[in-house]
Amino acid sequence: MKVLLLSKQSKSYIVDTQQKKFSCNQGLIDLTKAKIGRKIKSNTGAEFLVLQPTITDLLRKAGRGPQIIMEKDAAQIAAVTGITNGWKCLDAGSGSGFSALMLGNFVKPSGSVVSYEKLERHHNIAKKNVKYCELEKIIKMRNKPAEQFTEKNLDLILLDMPDADKMVKKCYSALKAGGWLCIYSPHIEQQIKARKQMEKHGFTGIRTFENIQRTWKSLKGFTHPKPSGIVHTGFMTFGRKY
Ligand SMILES: C[S@@+](CC[C@H](N)C(=O)[O-])C[C@H]1O[C@@H](n2cnc3c(N)ncnc32)[C@H](O)[C@@H]1O
Repeated sequence: MKVLLLSKQSKSYIVDTQQKKFSCNQGLIDLTKAKIGRKIKSNTGAEFLVLQPTITDLLRKAGRGPQIIMEKDAAQIAAVTGITNGWKCLDAGSGSGFSALMLGNFVKPSGSVVSYEKLERHHNIAKKNVKYCELEKIIKMRNKPAEQFTEKNLDLILLDMPDADKMVKKCYSALKAGGWLCIYSPHIEQQIKARKQMEKHGFTGIRTFENIQRTWKSLKGFTHPKPSGIVHTGFMTFGRKY
């Protein structure tokens, strides 16, 4: 069983309790004594809270390949679409598998995600991450160009790949009535092209977003936004099959 060991200073480790012992720079921990919701001490006296890892905890330790869809954008997808248990989703391209995993976590236990990736090396990274997060029953990975997808009656399609605008017509046919298409891209030109296709092919309520998130820091009573960090990640256009 995977557990999260969380220190008061917010240092965290994901460990498998089957390995019995875990060693880190804060000492050696006897995992046979690890109980979810309890604290445990290393042989040097360092304390950790033992927790069931969430998808977010797991993804922080997962492998990375191409640029991922980040937490703030995944959160917006959930908030706009209302995605929930039981939904049938399609994701492309898989990339590092982060968006597929976020969707898989929202739709479990009875929903599904099929994720398409044309490059074998990205497919392998994404597949490994799906295994690491133990969502293989929910998420099926396909090492194929997304243009070849055959799924029908979908609740949500998320496209994070070049030339997504060329897929809009096919996506419209594959969605159920009221189903959502979300097109994510780093450049506004890609969004303009996608929007035009969505308007042409019968989507309603088309909206484009950019999420700007700033983290603030507080030190000795003085508080301000952190001066650095990623500001622009991408744009997202949402529309619903009418
Ligand atoms: C930015 S990454 C996707 C990241 C992913 N959404 C995540 O959160 O980890 C874009 C991916 O699309 C893949 N790709 C590009 N064209 C594709 C196509 N026609 N079919 C499937 N995958 C494609 C690329 O190889 C790349 O891995």
